[in-house]
Amino acid sequence: MHKIKVEDREFEIFLENETINKRIRLLGIQINVDYEQKCPLFIGVLNGSFLFMADLIKEIDVPCEVAFMRVASYEGTSSSGKVKELIGLPDDIEGRDIIIVEDIVDTGLTLTHILKTIKEKNPSSIKVSSLLLKPAALKYEIEELEYIGFEIPNEFVVGYGLDYNGLGRNLTDIYRATES
Ligand code: IMP
Repeated sequence: MHKIKVEDREFEIFLENETINKRIRLLGIQINVDYEQKCPLFIGVLNGSFLFMADLIKEIDVPCEVAFMRVASYEGTSSSGKVKELIGLPDDIEGRDIIIVEDIVDTGLTLTHILKTIKEKNPSSIKVSSLLLKPAALKYEIEELEYIGFEIPNEFVVGYGLDYNGLGRNLTDIYRATES
């Protein structure tokens, strides 16, 4: 088994780049069919989605636009304690067909917050494409989750844009943490 170390943690190969790319090609076909005659605006959530977005967008042959945003979380003074702010959200969302592009949906908290904020800007439609989804970790119902690459077990993964303490985003394949 192909094993690697990222910082202090050991990982083993989980999804090879070829497998990832084959799946992305199918997602692209699905999106091309669903958005025929439309001009979707893809919004990637940084940092993790940059490689997925790059590969996904190459499979899209309907006219489309691409933008990126990020979610900053900081300790605020609201009753919930944690406040999240969306940075760099495009301002031409009204009336558009939006596709949010995520690396991974874990509990779904981040995505729920993003969807709520974007819906307030009156898009014509909104769907989510996430390369990975951990169904067992999901705590929020998200009906917009439409284009999922892989459903994976509730394990920590790294590579192909996903990081462990900021490291490992450059790995071509996706690895999972070994039990230790
Ligand atoms: P959520 O709000 O719990 O769904 O968390 C989503 C975010 O947590 C993702 O966008 C990732 O940045 C991070 N995350 C969740 N699981 C993993 C993982 O297995 N590897 C790397 N990052 C992860």
